[in-house]
Amino acid sequence: MEVSKLDQVLNALSACVLFIDQNRKITFANHAAQQRFGEDIVDESLVRIVRNPEFLAAIDRINAGEDEAEVELTIGASPSATFEVKLHALGEGLAKNAKIAITFEDVSQIRDAQLMRSEFVANVSHELRSPLTALAGFIETLRGPAKDDGEARQRFLALMENEAARMKRLIDDLLSLSKLQGKERIRPSGEVDLVQILDHVIASLSPVVEKERKTINISNDSEIQNIVGDHDELIQVFHNIIENAVKYGALDSVVDVNVSVSENIGAVNGPAVIVSVKDEGQGIQAEDIPRLTERFYRADKSRSRIKGGTGLGLAIVKHILNRHRGRLEIESELGQGSTFKIILPIG
Ligand SMILES: Nc1ncnc2c1ncn2[C@@H]1O[C@H](COP(=O)(O)OP(=O)(O)OP(=O)(O)O)[C@@H](O)[C@H]1O
Ligand SMILES: [Mg+2]
Repeated sequence: MEVSKLDQVLNALSACVLFIDQNRKITFANHAAQQRFGEDIVDESLVRIVRNPEFLAAIDRINAGEDEAEVELTIGASPSATFEVKLHALGEGLAKNAKIAITFEDVSQIRDAQLMRSEFVANVSHELRSPLTALAGFIETLRGPAKDDGEARQRFLALMENEAARMKRLIDDLLSLSKLQGKERIRPSGEVDLVQILDHVIASLSPVVEKERKTINISNDSEIQNIVGDHDELIQVFHNIIENAVKYGALDSVVDVNVSVSENIGAVNGPAVIVSVKDEGQGIQAEDIPRLTERFYRADKSRSRIKGGTGLGLAIVKHILNRHRGRLEIESELGQGSTFKIILPIG
């Protein structure tokens, strides 16, 4: 079959292009359109692919004399795709009486990103508003009913300090996330002593450990000393994972931190160091596990909030590990506790 010059050009485009005649019959489909809608769509009715009334109305408007029209269409179910569709009236004399050119540009990723951004802004606003509302409430009480009550004043000021600290933590975490996104593709170049980092993190967590009545045991089955990594970022990773194990573990329970090395770990394609953090907490439901690294996702909302969590900790961990080409693996069973494994490539 001879392929005309025009066809060659249209086949080179990544957008889907269709020509239809007066009766909505498809007279031409470029390669992208055939891949998307089927190899055999030429000579079929367009209605077989798209039944959207808005789209069909746009075709009618062109047939009635308008030059161009534009609609946004969502086609298919899970996963659906969103297209920006443009229709143009064609002049006379094209093969098979083609009357309208239709281009479909896939804008799904742009729409998904827009949705994520607006969800993120909504989440941040909500998270900031709760401590702010609490602060405003305390101020009102201190001005009014508790004005001359010294004891109440002290109590409220302590609560206000907590709420302010919570807001600060949230903002620090957000800034951390945005900084990490900026350098996610740049590999860290420093050398760090992993065991020293773990000792440091465990020491810095001692106030929480005491408050939560936990014991942390650390064991090292490796000879590992220095690995390539960013010192402050790895502190953030282990701080959050071990803090979670302490916060979400049962009272008077033990958190086990173990360091080991494996010659070949599939997840990172080679030798790696594995830090596993095992707690004796309530565990995490299977359907929550893949979502834990989403921003603001909390498996147990009320418990996490009581513990002062922002729900950003594991999102930060994921970004840092991506940058280190590492992995986070989570194993958990309800009622049996959880094990978080941080896998970092070495060598
Ligand atoms: N060891 C664990 N046991 C049970 N649930 C956990 C554990 N670690 C994390 N989770 C769940 O995962 C959620 C997300 O954890 P993440 O560290 O991202 O947030 P957070 O601890 O609530 O807040 P932040 O770390 O920002 O202070 C937690 O809210 C909790 O529901
Ligand atoms: Mg946390």
